[in-house]
Amino acid sequence: SDGLEHRENSKDKQLEQYRVNNYGEKMTTNQALKISNDEFSLKAGVRGPTLMEDLHLREKITHFDHERIPERVVHARGYAAHGEFELYKSMKDYTKAGFLQVPGTKTPIFTRFSNVAGSKGSADTVRDVKGFAIKFYTEEGNYDLVGNNMPVFFIQDAIKFPDLIHAVKPEPHNEIPQASSAHDTFWDFVVSNQESAHMVMWLMSDRAIAKNFRVMDGFGVHTFRLVNEEGIAHFVKFHWKPKLGVHSLVWDEAQKISGKDPDFQRRDLWDSIEKGHFPEWEFGVQMIKEKDEFMFDFDILDATKIWPEETVPVQIFGKLTLNKNVDNVFAETEQVAFHPGNVVPGIDFTNDPLLQGRLFSYLDTQLIRLGGPNFAEIPINRPVCPFHNNQRDGYSRQRIDVGQVSYHNNTLANNTPATSTAAEGGYVHYAEKVEGKVIQARSESFKDHFSQARLFWNSMSGPEKQHIINAFTFEVGKVNSKDIRQRVVDMFVEVDKEMATIIAVDVGVNRPSGEQVPVTASSPALSQENTIYTPQT
Ligand code: HEM
Repeated sequence: SDGLEHRENSKDKQLEQYRVNNYGEKMTTNQALKISNDEFSLKAGVRGPTLMEDLHLREKITHFDHERIPERVVHARGYAAHGEFELYKSMKDYTKAGFLQVPGTKTPIFTRFSNVAGSKGSADTVRDVKGFAIKFYTEEGNYDLVGNNMPVFFIQDAIKFPDLIHAVKPEPHNEIPQASSAHDTFWDFVVSNQESAHMVMWLMSDRAIAKNFRVMDGFGVHTFRLVNEEGIAHFVKFHWKPKLGVHSLVWDEAQKISGKDPDFQRRDLWDSIEKGHFPEWEFGVQMIKEKDEFMFDFDILDATKIWPEETVPVQIFGKLTLNKNVDNVFAETEQVAFHPGNVVPGIDFTNDPLLQGRLFSYLDTQLIRLGGPNFAEIPINRPVCPFHNNQRDGYSRQRIDVGQVSYHNNTLANNTPATSTAAEGGYVHYAEKVEGKVIQARSESFKDHFSQARLFWNSMSGPEKQHIINAFTFEVGKVNSKDIRQRVVDMFVEVDKEMATIIAVDVGVNRPSGEQVPVTASSPALSQENTIYTPQT
């Protein structure tokens, strides 16, 4: 398609008013005072001390001193691009969301890809889960789909998220290792929280070393709800599939690229878009009727479980295209604030206990990361439709709220909420029936941690199985605690005995049966001479 197409979209038009190009302009201070010199500070005499009076020096250095904001607490390393979502097929029967009604409707989007664990300056091609967050600038407000490139997650309940991340991130006493799951705290977390088994299988698979962003799947992970005009709801899981197919690196390539070009994936995205090779994803949903909520042998609200596509097929209804690079990485990629709680009418949450915690976390973290409550006014975060409410003031308020009224109910300004009629389109939360006692447990099937991990292993080809074993060997082989290495083997025997036995040999611990393995190499993992897996016929 024509590379200029995006210029017509409403988000790009909105951003245009904020773009400033300094080229060829005379330099001024922030107060627009023309400056006569940007090279020498003001001094008392040729060899004297610098003077406080040098307003330009003070302003320039002060601004520099404050240039950094905190990196994201997770997903710090990221890269983003603009694009659009095009609807193929009306989803009217399932949702009243305005941007999903009329085929051909195009909605501006902004997408940020990220690595979960590493810091902002870490390498792209490390073994990690990748974030894949999409902001849809719809005419009814911003809708954020804050997904990953894997369909499940490590934990079932948000209360464990800080623990998971503390275990994954570099260890606190020595800040090692940067951006890797090859360490004691990560594997200690895994063996101590066995609901992670399925996700760890994905993490040890080739899916965790994506070749580039353009060839990754995207998943909403959680179960959401679509709600139509009649108020009828369906449970859904969102999927987006790259037109170019899913491709991975092999571990050896990934490691070499990390050294030779740590920016490999961001460079690939930037270059592809600059050349007009716009990456595309087909966008779809798996849907389950409300009445079928309990038809499965897993709980559909458990984020460590997939819905098998053979039983619940993905229905494609649109396409995502990325067609424009950012103008400024800080202004757009760093300052964008995604939040799973940003929804539009016709899209709603479920009681997935992981999602429920996320609904709190994102706004909370962004209040500190982006310096106060007004970050929705940052250009990249502004909806393309007008927004009005009685929220006022706070650090760096941009808009000038005119008039005497900033409260509701009022009779002076008549700024009432919209009603839920189609014409007014006010958001109404789905009227789910909720009953029960206040309790901390979940349904029994949340305790089945291994069935789907086993299915995942069994669905792999011989070479893919070998790669998984090599990954376990590499990562677990670096764990200092022999006890943890042993417990990893003992845990993953629940997925596959043969797999666990080979890993046991490779990482120098007892076979899962307890039988002693003769250990020869001092650190078998580092030698990379792994036992070769031979698929059984
Ligand atoms: C980013 C929390 C689970 C996908 C973040 C951030 C926080 C967070 C605090 C940083 C946001 C910012 O600074 O703007 C949580 C919590 C979770 C959780 C508490 C579980 C309870 C998940 C899951 C997914 C996910 C299951 C995928 C489905 C992402 C993505 C980003 C992110 C893609 C990066 C967004 C961006 O590019 O700016 N998360 N997260 N998170 N999270 Fe989560």
